[in-house]
Formats: sequence, C-alpha cells, structure tokens
Amino acid sequence: MTKPTTVLITGGAGFIGSHTCVELLGHGYEVVVVDDYSNSSPRALDEVQKLAGRPLTAYQADLRDRGALDAVFAAHPIDAVIHFAAKKAVGESMRIPLDYFDINIGGTTSLLRTMRAHGVHKLVFSSSCTVYGSSDATLLGEDEPTAPTSPYARSKWVCEQLLADTCDRYSEFSAVSLRYFNPVGAHPSGRIGEDPRGVPNNVMPYMTQVAVGRLERLSVFGSDYPTPDGTAIRDYIHVVDVADGHRLAAERLDDAPGLRVFNLGTGVGASVLELVEAFSQACGKTLPYELTDRRPGDAIRAVADASKVAREWGWQPKYDLAAMCRDAWRFQTLNPAGYDRAAGPTNDSARTAQEV
Ligand code: UFG
Repeated sequence: MTKPTTVLITGGAGFIGSHTCVELLGHGYEVVVVDDYSNSSPRALDEVQKLAGRPLTAYQADLRDRGALDAVFAAHPIDAVIHFAAKKAVGESMRIPLDYFDINIGGTTSLLRTMRAHGVHKLVFSSSCTVYGSSDATLLGEDEPTAPTSPYARSKWVCEQLLADTCDRYSEFSAVSLRYFNPVGAHPSGRIGEDPRGVPNNVMPYMTQVAVGRLERLSVFGSDYPTPDGTAIRDYIHVVDVADGHRLAAERLDDAPGLRVFNLGTGVGASVLELVEAFSQACGKTLPYELTDRRPGDAIRAVADASKVAREWGWQPKYDLAAMCRDAWRFQTLNPAGYDRAAGPTNDSARTAQEV
C-alpha cells in the first residue's frame, strides 16, 4: 500500500470530518478541507489545528461549484479524497428530497469529474447503513441486499452506484465506501464534537442539548417497534473510531482496484431507551423524555456485522457506549452553546475558494 501524502477532505469542518482531520494530521498527512459551512463551523477547524498542533488549509465552497473545486485541485498535489460533504438527516430528507439528490448526488458527480480532470483516482466515500433499509437480518453484512427507505438513503445508494460505474469505466480509479452505522461521541478532549445548526435531527446531539437545558425533553420516536423495549435499535459507534477507520481506508486504497464496501460499526445494538439510560449515567441526571410517534423513514433495527473490516484490515472499534456518552457530554459541557456562531470564518482557517 502507498500512503497518500495530501488528502482532500470534503465536509472537513463537520462532525466526522473534523475528527478525521485530527486523525490525519496526527499521522503526518497534509490536509486540505473544502466545506460550505452550511451545517458546520469554521471554528471547528481552529480547534482541529490546535488539537493536532499542525495547520491545514481550508476553502469555503460548495462541491457543485466546479470552478471553485477546480481551483482547489489546481493549488494542491492531492493524492486522495475523503468525501463527507452531504446532507445527512433521514427525517429532513423526507421533507426536501430534491435538495438531498441535488446536494449529495450533484456534489459527488462534480467531485468525481474534478478528480478525473486532475488525475486524482483515489476516493474514500462516506456512505451509510441506511442503504440496507428495514432488513430483518440480525446483523447487517455488506452482502445484505440494499433497500433504501428514504431520499437520504437513496442518495447514498446512488452515489455508491456512481462510484462503481466510475471504477468500471476508469480502471485507474479505486474507491472504498464506508457504510457506517450511527457515529456519536466526540473527541475525548471535548474540543471538537457534534454541533449541528438549528434543532438537532440526530438523537445524541438532541440529548446533549436537553441535558444542558437548551431543549426541554427528548421525543423518543416510536415505542411500538417489535424490539424488547419497543424503541428502535441502532449500532452507535464512537466518532474517533469512525475517523480512524477513514484514515485506514485511505491507506488501503491501493490494495485493490474498483469499489470496495466496508461496514463501520461495533456489532452491538442499543435501543433509544438504552441510549437514554447510558447518557443519563454519563451526565449524572435523568434525561427527560416522552414517547411519541414513529419518525417516517426510520428502520426498526440497524446493527452491523462488523467482521469484514476486522478480517481484511484487522480493524476494530475501541470505544463502548459509555465512552461515547461520556465524550459527547464532555463536548457539550465545555461548549454549552456549541461553536461560536456569532463570529464569521477566521482568517487562519478558512479562505474562500476565490482566494486560491
Ligand atoms: N431518535 C429519537 N429522537 C430524536 C432523534 C432520533 O428517538 O430526537 C431515534 C430515531 O428514531 C432512531 C435513533 O434515535 O431510532 C437514531 O436516530 P438518528 O437520527 O440519530 O440516526 P439515524 O439512525 O436516523 O441515522 C442517521 C443517518 C446515518 C447517520 C446517523 C448519525 O441515517 O447515516 O444519522 O448522523 F450515521
């Protein structure tokens, strides 16, 4: 395997992107970020650089802006790309499906075209367990038939097909699609974490904001599922493990041509009520919640068969649910209002693409 030297991270200021930046900087890579900050803050990149003790270069741009993207590729000797930038909320995607197709699929197409134009052929793609849909399987392996049930999931599924077709047509291309389950938690330092704009769609940031009093109580979506306590089951995985998985995937891109798919999960499921209990333990107070209707598009259960990545790459997650809750809570405690939204992009961490 050849280690890439300069890695472009799209969506690098976001939740998983920022943790992956820390991971790559810590392993000696040069990191270039493209992010439009539509659901992230450039402040996260300030914290990333302080944590890693090394600089990165960041550009504010929408991936669908081919001119902006082209300028970024022209300015850096990019060896590989890790592609996170996308919209990612199941419920929201049911309301605004065309935005999901436009941003997620359009952004990926634009990125692939620009990569081709600049002779960059290695990509790690941020996919999702939601491509499996509402399967009855106890553990979801990579061979499980895909059956996406929401526009968000379908957008990820389509992007995987785009990658497969691109790899088929251009034999120099190699791609790894990481289907991760539910990334939660935060960097153990508490300096970076999940800070979505507006009311959180995902359960963990919602819980942390309830715990600091920014929100009143958690709505548990659905208590009549055919599960032991009636609430939906997910495979929560620590974001630092997910970031580490991306670093390894980038290093394994040369192992084989074409598109390869790997799950990133723990193989351990937790219901929403079990998560509430674990989080209550971590924050030292009982989290207020109410049982409400199911959320359209939600799967009953999504737990990984995580054996392929262990077998082929010798990779395993290190953190358990208690650590995920502890670290998410630490980030929220240290940043009760999240990253400072009042301030605009800072000079040292964010330049507009036009300034290239
Ligand atoms: N949930 C609630 N209340 C909430 C939010 C969520 O009960 O306020 C429940 C959901 O119904 C689901 C579970 O908590 O049963 C997890 O929901 P999330 O919204 O946190 O995550 P999803 O399983 O919907 O997964 C989505 C994407 C994944 C992504 C994940 C984390 O499909 O690709 O969010 O970002 F990894």
